[in-house]
Amino acid sequence: MKAVIQDKYGSPDALELREIDKPLIKDDEVLVRVRAASVHPDVWHVVSGLPYILRLMGAGLLKPKNRIPGTDMAGHVEAVGKNVREFSPGDEVFGETLRGLQWNNGGAYAEYVAVPEDMLALKPANVTFEQAASVPTTGYIVLMNLRGKAEVKPGQKVLINGAGGGVGTLALQIAKAYGADVTAVDSTEKLDMLRSIGADQVIDYTQEDFTRRDEHFDLIFDIPGNHSFADCRRVLTPEGVYVLIGHDHFGQQGHHLLGSMPRMMKLMVMSLFMRQLADADFSMPSKKDTMAVLRELLEEGKITPVVDRTFPLGEVPEAIRYLKSGHVQGKVVITV
Ligand SMILES: NC(=O)c1ccc[n+]([C@@H]2O[C@H](COP(=O)([O-])OP(=O)(O)OC[C@H]3O[C@@H](n4cnc5c(N)ncnc54)[C@H](OP(=O)(O)O)[C@@H]3O)[C@@H](O)[C@H]2O)c1
Repeated sequence: MKAVIQDKYGSPDALELREIDKPLIKDDEVLVRVRAASVHPDVWHVVSGLPYILRLMGAGLLKPKNRIPGTDMAGHVEAVGKNVREFSPGDEVFGETLRGLQWNNGGAYAEYVAVPEDMLALKPANVTFEQAASVPTTGYIVLMNLRGKAEVKPGQKVLINGAGGGVGTLALQIAKAYGADVTAVDSTEKLDMLRSIGADQVIDYTQEDFTRRDEHFDLIFDIPGNHSFADCRRVLTPEGVYVLIGHDHFGQQGHHLLGSMPRMMKLMVMSLFMRQLADADFSMPSKKDTMAVLRELLEEGKITPVVDRTFPLGEVPEAIRYLKSGHVQGKVVITV
């Protein structure tokens, strides 16, 4: 099969499309003929090997353990292991390829990938392979962070900072699906798209600093993390909650050793004393349950994935460079 191979950490330009053997499946795995796979900032992190801590967290010390990047995909079931019960050859499926953290290569940038059965769901008929492939990893991040104190309730006022990217476009639509009034913050060129996917209000961050508003929000879902918690607190209601997703802006912040981790850790410790910070919850929600929620939201038309542009499998380096450009609305997807 054709697969994108990463022999070392560094520039995406070193990725090569090569012919290799198809993966073998274990008893609880499904062999998927990949039709589409998404590109997101964590793919860039593992390709570049930055921040260095990710190499110690399982990605591979000197070179990637799994040489094929990509963590989410959609395609057809080609074959199933002997313990697989829920899928049969020919089914259209989508899902994540990694059981654990996204800071790892997952093998999705290939014609075939072996995926544990409980990481997949049937692809709803009303979305394309490209749209379905853009959802699993991003949707998991969103749902994992909208738990506990940060659970969205009907009628709440939610502000999403960085709403025009992969995580933001899904967070916006999921908050709307749960009945919130959503204010979306991003750059000028993304505001029309944000209105089209349901934003009740939009703020252009190149013209206005949302932390200086007189308005107050019940939840701030902050993706770029370009304001301090103290500044965001000014526009939170007394019971409001701040959630930081964090974005290393493709290494531009220079935190090459630990990335955003020190800031996240600080907020987790502070959350023990401050009710306006999301709970420090290290538990990982079940990927099977998360896929079922995402599938239902897609099928009911409550989320419509925004795919900015697609690139063929042979152009993964170009696709990663395009993501880094900052002009992407929603997601970039690889077609296979
Ligand atoms: N997407 C995934 O599947 C996924 C999975 C796991 C983890 N994550 C993590 O989640 C984080 C976000 O990922 P993402 O996919 O949403 O990234 P993204 O697609 O790059 O989106 C980030 C958004 O933030 C906006 N932005 C940048 N500076 C801003 C500012 N000062 N004020 C307001 N908005 C600003 C960007 O718009 P402009 O460029 O126009 O400024 C862009 O629309 C990353 O750290 C990533 O590692 C993502």
